[in-house]
Amino acid sequence: MKVLVVESTSRGNESFSNRLAQSVLQKLKEKNLKLEVSTRNLDKDPVLDSEAAISELKSAEVVIIGVPMHNFSIPIVLKAWIDQVVRPGQSFRYGASGPEGLIRGKKAYLAIASGGVYSEGPMSAYDFTEPYLKAVLGFIGISDLTTFRIEGVDVPGLKDIAFEKAVESIRI
Ligand SMILES: Cc1cc2nc3c(=O)[nH]c(=O)nc-3n(C[C@H](O)[C@H](O)[C@H](O)COP(=O)(O)O)c2cc1C
Repeated sequence: MKVLVVESTSRGNESFSNRLAQSVLQKLKEKNLKLEVSTRNLDKDPVLDSEAAISELKSAEVVIIGVPMHNFSIPIVLKAWIDQVVRPGQSFRYGASGPEGLIRGKKAYLAIASGGVYSEGPMSAYDFTEPYLKAVLGFIGISDLTTFRIEGVDVPGLKDIAFEKAVESIRI
């Protein structure tokens, strides 16, 4: 099974979104020994070639996207990747009954890291990260999407247990 891991933080091994994405990958490995994994680090290697980005995405059966929340939304390098990947005629088209996604048959996982808590409580209305990614990935046909979150990494009392809690929440 071909797995594409998309990383979008500049924080390397310190990064919570990368570590959560790796934990998702680990769980997949436990279920399926034959994984062929490729990694696209958008911080080190920003995507400039739309066709290459689309064919890399099309060739994967599973996509894991590590996402640090930046100002209630996604990092600029991930937005740049999306802007290369979402293309009429390549990843979506307008049919008789409206837009149709052309990137079909994928399973996607989001590994979202945030300083605060957005899955519940007063800040949940400020989460434009997951709704945006769900909308845009769904638009190109990637609608089988599961989100895992590591949240509260900047909140005293939550930050010490955030990673463990996030890893425990992973159900594949
Ligand atoms: C530019 C920037 C903007 C951020 N904006 C938010 C935000 O809106 N909400 C939040 O909860 N955390 C915010 N954070 C904190 C990050 O989401 C948090 O540090 C997270 O761990 C980043 O993921 P990473 O560890 O994978 O880099 C921001 C961090 C940076 C650097």
